[in-house]
Amino acid sequence: MGSQFMMGGGFSRRRFLEGLGGIGGSSLLMAGMSALGFGIASAQAAPPKLSGGGGKRVVVLGAGVAGMTSAYELSRAGYDVVVLEARGFAGGRCQTARKGFQLTELGGETQNCDFDDGLYINHGPWRIPYHHQSTLHYTKEFNVPLEIFVNDNDNSYVMFDKGKGPLAGKPVRKGQVAADIRGAASEMLAKQVKQGALDQQMTADDREAFIAYLVHEGYLTNDLAYKGTEGRGFDVDPGPGVVPGPGKASTPYPFADVLHSNAWRTLSSVTAYDQQRTMFQPVGGMDRIAKGFEGAIGKLIRYNHVVKKLRQNDKGVEVAYVDGDGVSGVIKADYCICAIPLSVLRQMDIEVSKPFKEAIGAVSYALVGKIGMQMKRRFWEEDHHIYGGHIYYDDADINSMALPSTGWQSKKGIILGYYQFGANAAKVSALSPAERQALSAKAGSKVFPEFADNVETSFSASWHRIEHNLGGWAQWSDESRKDAYPLLCEPDGRVYLTGEHLSYLTGWQAGGIESAWQQIAKLHARVHAA
Ligand code: ALA
Repeated sequence: MGSQFMMGGGFSRRRFLEGLGGIGGSSLLMAGMSALGFGIASAQAAPPKLSGGGGKRVVVLGAGVAGMTSAYELSRAGYDVVVLEARGFAGGRCQTARKGFQLTELGGETQNCDFDDGLYINHGPWRIPYHHQSTLHYTKEFNVPLEIFVNDNDNSYVMFDKGKGPLAGKPVRKGQVAADIRGAASEMLAKQVKQGALDQQMTADDREAFIAYLVHEGYLTNDLAYKGTEGRGFDVDPGPGVVPGPGKASTPYPFADVLHSNAWRTLSSVTAYDQQRTMFQPVGGMDRIAKGFEGAIGKLIRYNHVVKKLRQNDKGVEVAYVDGDGVSGVIKADYCICAIPLSVLRQMDIEVSKPFKEAIGAVSYALVGKIGMQMKRRFWEEDHHIYGGHIYYDDADINSMALPSTGWQSKKGIILGYYQFGANAAKVSALSPAERQALSAKAGSKVFPEFADNVETSFSASWHRIEHNLGGWAQWSDESRKDAYPLLCEPDGRVYLTGEHLSYLTGWQAGGIESAWQQIAKLHARVHAA
């Protein structure tokens, strides 16, 4: 990948990532993070085979995906498991907002999701790469039906307000930009090579093969010119009857216009390994995964139990909690699996060693905002012929929008109105839900003139303001990965941490699942050794 080339060119990791963030927006940044191993492929496809838990008692803190994975596998292996969950429902960040879903952000007003029946937004995890075999293990195990999540769409729009020239500030089709920039670059290179510009580096055979490749890659004519390709669409579409067909391929944008529009900057974002096709989503909402776990181990979960204190000694652990009625209690167990995000855990009264406690505080959490906008009419499909995929926008308060990969050709739908990170997520999260809706409507209307008039209602989430999460996902620096991270991957006494934060798949459910698999395997080995 280009990123390797850039790394070889003397860029530090951090500088490289900063550079991507600066020029290409966060989607590029995320692609780069993946290329550098911050979000690599999932490595494990199946849980460890455990048996003979012998009734040892394990208290699991948090019924998110990592906590429930631990509880499910340990209980199947014969452990006596109890799960304490602060919320009234299971899933952690694996949530779906549909009619009746409530959210009160810290210091914010309560949102009551009032989407129409059948409509929803996955405001947490929303896509599953095909190589996240660990996540797919459980969707299969719990019979969660999947459908394709359209993560790339040639017909979707790219919109660069900050570009220059006639294409700047206009929605342009991603596939057309891709064809034209590839065509123009191939043409220039092919002509140079033909004239011998690379003869020092190439044999005559190489040269011919390379030109053949460029002709192929850029859809060049025999005289090595790019004059468009029918892949970018037609001015007049091929049709029936006596109309000569196929219609004339559409005219390419002038090279300089594409170049200075900046629109090409987004083209590599969905080529990163964790963004490639095939991408999935559960039919009906991501929380179907949480419900799958709940169906299997729901009886082990004590809901509305907020952990207040964790104590341990060489005999066992004690977890003090307060339940939904305000009644305090204590759970005793042999071991603790703690799946509470570090952003929350760092503030809790837990008995662990000083270095462990310090390590817990050494990671930052992503600031992330999403909004689901209910639209009266699927104008993106009806008027623009865009079925799923993302709209890339260099307004950093928006960053990207996404069109639903479900409910094709039905009446209404939920658009993801923004998905922003960092400082912009902080800024937008300070707005009221109504103001966030207005922000999305205004920006969306620049891409789709129909947008604002079709907005019916919305639901927004700013993960850094959500109690029990306080952030989207863990973000390790090189330094904290080196010092703090390895410490937290090992138990502190009888306490084992788990979650996406203890993986190189941060921000993915697969990270939580595989971390859980790793930790329970360690715990099990210890029980057996004893
Ligand atoms: N894994 C997260 C996403 O897909 C961050 O957007």
